[in-house]
Amino acid sequence: MQKNLLKSLLIPVAATLCFSTAASADSQVAVTTPVSQEPWWKHAVFYEIYPRSFADAKNAGVGNIKGIVSKLDYLKDLGVDAVWITPCYPSPQIDFGYDISDYENIAPEYGTLADFDELIKEAKARNIKIIMDLVMNHTSDKHKWFIESRSSKTNPKRDWYIWRDGKNGQPPNNWQSIFGHSAWTFDPATKQYYYHFFYPEQPDLNWRNPEVKKAMFDAVRFWLDRGVAGFRLDAITTLYEDPNLKDNKVLPGKNAYGDPNMANENNDHSLEIHDVLRDLRSLLNSYPDDRVLVGETFGKDLADLCLMYGRNADEIQLPMNFQFAYINKLSAPDFRARIKEWDTNPVQGWPVYLFNNHDTTRSYVRYGDGIHNDQIAKLMATMLLTLRGTPILYYGEELGMENRDPQTVEEVYDPIGKIGWPKEKGRDGERTPMQWTADANAGFSQAKPWLPVTAKYKTHNVAAETKDPDSILSYYKKLIQIRRTNPAMRNGAYTPLNATDKNVLAYLRTKDASNVVVVLNMSNAPQKIKLDLPAAITGKNGHLIASNVSSPDSASLTKELSLAPFGSYVWELQ
Ligand code: NOJ
Repeated sequence: MQKNLLKSLLIPVAATLCFSTAASADSQVAVTTPVSQEPWWKHAVFYEIYPRSFADAKNAGVGNIKGIVSKLDYLKDLGVDAVWITPCYPSPQIDFGYDISDYENIAPEYGTLADFDELIKEAKARNIKIIMDLVMNHTSDKHKWFIESRSSKTNPKRDWYIWRDGKNGQPPNNWQSIFGHSAWTFDPATKQYYYHFFYPEQPDLNWRNPEVKKAMFDAVRFWLDRGVAGFRLDAITTLYEDPNLKDNKVLPGKNAYGDPNMANENNDHSLEIHDVLRDLRSLLNSYPDDRVLVGETFGKDLADLCLMYGRNADEIQLPMNFQFAYINKLSAPDFRARIKEWDTNPVQGWPVYLFNNHDTTRSYVRYGDGIHNDQIAKLMATMLLTLRGTPILYYGEELGMENRDPQTVEEVYDPIGKIGWPKEKGRDGERTPMQWTADANAGFSQAKPWLPVTAKYKTHNVAAETKDPDSILSYYKKLIQIRRTNPAMRNGAYTPLNATDKNVLAYLRTKDASNVVVVLNMSNAPQKIKLDLPAAITGKNGHLIASNVSSPDSASLTKELSLAPFGSYVWELQ
């Protein structure tokens, strides 16, 4: 699917520098740091909210900040520690907020700065932190900076964006927008082209101009001063382009937009981003309370990801691992390999695990087999919430929300679906209203929601699942609670078990005397397994603390175990 083009923000120029520029392990956050000294984000559960679709407190058909405030008790009850809100700044909403027209305000349809302050205050009262989305690569074409910039070639803000002459009546080079067609748009008034990695309505800022950095960092201070706990950095690898505008290599085949495939080696993954990231981190570090950077960090491999932590662990604390998120098949060997490389990464970067976000078909659909989807959703939750690392949930994942993709091009809101239809249906399907109740519009709004709700909202909603101890929601709550209270789960070392099994992913988490064994049957057949537990803990009985199938409360983990199809088991050793 073409939205997966977002995932192809790849092909780093110098990924091999990872280990030559990365500092020695001892300058990193050591994994053995005592829990009490560890920054909060290492053991937090993050939760992504798409504000347009989460909760509508005004019956307007779109969500808003007051809606989020009204659901804080729900988030608290779920066990969420930090909420990442996708952009809620003023915006023409061409890319639903990722086209910002004012970095220091709240979109009127979502509320006011006073509403936002109330959100921070009410969230704090519940020990929940708020993370903003920071889009530094581009602004909206309606931002006053761009309006000034395009007004004349001599305007002081002209150089805040990337303007170039064309070549023989054509764009300056062959670069393509990740959202389809040329990355250059001609501006008839000044007869030059401007560059945009995304839509034409999202012109790229020129990060080689120091005034751009100053203006963006002022915006960062604005939100830090208001009490945000950090930022999720949008499209962070795309800040810089080759100043000589070298053509990109053309690859075989065409994408869903009908454009030739391209490597993007000259307009993505420039190492110049690291200076900005270091300065941004320093700015955050000048504030108390361990403010955090979460990165939308696409890369082709682990080495790319390692770079994002910074040479001295001085850049992004939580770079997202899309290689894990997008394995897209229930494969024990694939998950095992990814987890292992991540858990033992050479810079000791703290892992970050997620399966979902607003750009990707929901995991319920990607990993479900169409028959056992609820059970598989619990299996995936078991993995996400029992690994050593910080998990990020996407709203509704905890209910087993599925996609509701547009049926016709007329229904599509997301421009990539309009440009790429029918091969690319866009991202509306994973952005449907949160399912609160079985009432009309899933209790999201009394007005017609901006997107239709999914087909299964009558069963997969907060009200119904809260009452059902076997629901996906109850299972998420249980696992989050275990993470919070169990020392091995919270901070224990990760040891893979039965590392050659093709169907079962099994591992041990250990912290001092506390041990937890997790076993996930990723196949649709029953499996038998004898765990290769380390000698020190064989003979101990396993007390089942979470499972997606009904099983005996305790088991001798030394004996052969019978696993149900798609069964997940979490045993505490006693
Ligand atoms: C990545 C965001 O997640 C996506 O939704 C957006 O369209 C692009 N960046 C452009 O900002």
